[in-house]
Amino acid sequence: MRASTTLAVAGVLASGVSAENYLGFNSGNTLADRSAKFKADWLAEFNTAQKLVNAPGKFNAVRLYTNIQAYSKDDPIQAFEAAIETKTKILLGVWASGTDNIDNELSALKKAITKYGKDFTDLVIGMSIGSEDLYRNSETGVKNEAGIGADPDVLLKFINDYKKSVSGTALSSVPIGHVDTWDVYVNGTNKKVIDALDWVGVDEYPYYETGKGNNIKNSGQLFDRAFDAVKAAVGSKPVWVTETGWPSSGPTWDEAEASVENAKYYWNEIGCRKLFNKVPTFWYNLRDSNPDNKMKFQITSNLSTKPLFDLTCPTTFETPSNGGKTSSASATGVPTATRSGSGSGSTATSSPSTDGNSTSGSNGGSSSGDDNVVEGSGAALGVSFSTFAISGLAVVAGVFALF
Ligand SMILES: *[C@@H]1O[C@H](CO)[C@@H](O)[C@H](O)[C@H]1NC(C)=O
Ligand SMILES: *[C@@H]1O[C@H](CO)[C@@H](O)[C@H](O)[C@H]1NC(C)=O
Ligand SMILES: *[C@@H]1O[C@H](CO)[C@@H](O)[C@H](O)[C@H]1NC(C)=O
Repeated sequence: MRASTTLAVAGVLASGVSAENYLGFNSGNTLADRSAKFKADWLAEFNTAQKLVNAPGKFNAVRLYTNIQAYSKDDPIQAFEAAIETKTKILLGVWASGTDNIDNELSALKKAITKYGKDFTDLVIGMSIGSEDLYRNSETGVKNEAGIGADPDVLLKFINDYKKSVSGTALSSVPIGHVDTWDVYVNGTNKKVIDALDWVGVDEYPYYETGKGNNIKNSGQLFDRAFDAVKAAVGSKPVWVTETGWPSSGPTWDEAEASVENAKYYWNEIGCRKLFNKVPTFWYNLRDSNPDNKMKFQITSNLSTKPLFDLTCPTTFETPSNGGKTSSASATGVPTATRSGSGSGSTATSSPSTDGNSTSGSNGGSSSGDDNVVEGSGAALGVSFSTFAISGLAVVAGVFALF
């Protein structure tokens, strides 16, 4: 009895990585003027995030895209120090596209473990190896010139490299995930990546669903269908929503209108109804640092704790349930257009940091070419994006083509 109780508890713990439904935002490592963020910039973000007026919980988690401080080869990103000072939980990210190794990422991480010890490691809630790498190498990503991605075997190698690197450290028990677009997870070729993970991160943007009736009133149903398809594809593994949001300003996209009013509707119908305190969630975004995307996903324009709209959650919702219909994870079809902001291809290296300031990396990649790649992909959507580094925005258009 005792033994079985112990086992049961152990089982709960082992599978319990989503037991806490984190609330956070995404944070790239550059500002809207393409300069690097430093500690003070992250302090300002984290302090505001935790004090947002009428928030449905404490936004005290952050998703990062890299361990590397911009303008450095492998110095730990200064977000770590800001997180320690504000007790902000950290979903770590390793940039995994356009490189044959993640040595600089791992070096920066090990330096942080040595330098900050438990103050740092106690805050780490997860590690994502890669961001939208499989999407960029998918048929759709290639068609849309989304930039350089990584294949499943490369991600598997990086996952193992990471495990070896943190073995024997406090991070060895931190759950490992990967972040990608939903359609990636229903593609059977990628199953071996899912199998290697403790949790699965999905980025979802109903706003960009051209041809799918993507007006704001349908955003809840579009979101749910993709989310359910991912859940069906990954089985019992926890699904974390690593990016989602609706622009508060910017041009209209098919039927989708960017406005503060619609951003508020999306907050209610996707955030309040479906995610907050139910699923680990990293909203896109507290502030928008992408100068090349006309759509601004920010909920504050100036890091004021009083956001552009009232964050209070309603008690009733408009989104109809899917009525038992679940989309088939085995459906085939090619999402039409997508692009992944992660493009930080910038640097095609381990550091999604450099926007026009080629500083990073192991590969000595220059960032300018990568900017072009990413802008090309944006252009495929009729929009000019720039690098991932800035924002990490993942624009997933047409990703609902399956439905
Ligand atoms: C590029 O990096 C250097 C440090 O290596 C920094 O001094 C400079 O301000 C950066 N340039 C831009 C445009 O951010
Ligand atoms: C399925 O995944 C593999 C490996 O990531 C990729 O090469 C392939 O293009 C994907 N299929 C489609 C239809 O995108
Ligand atoms: C920040 O922006 C909000 C909304 O646009 C505005 O009401 C407020 O005055 C601004 N605060 C500061 C300090 O500029």
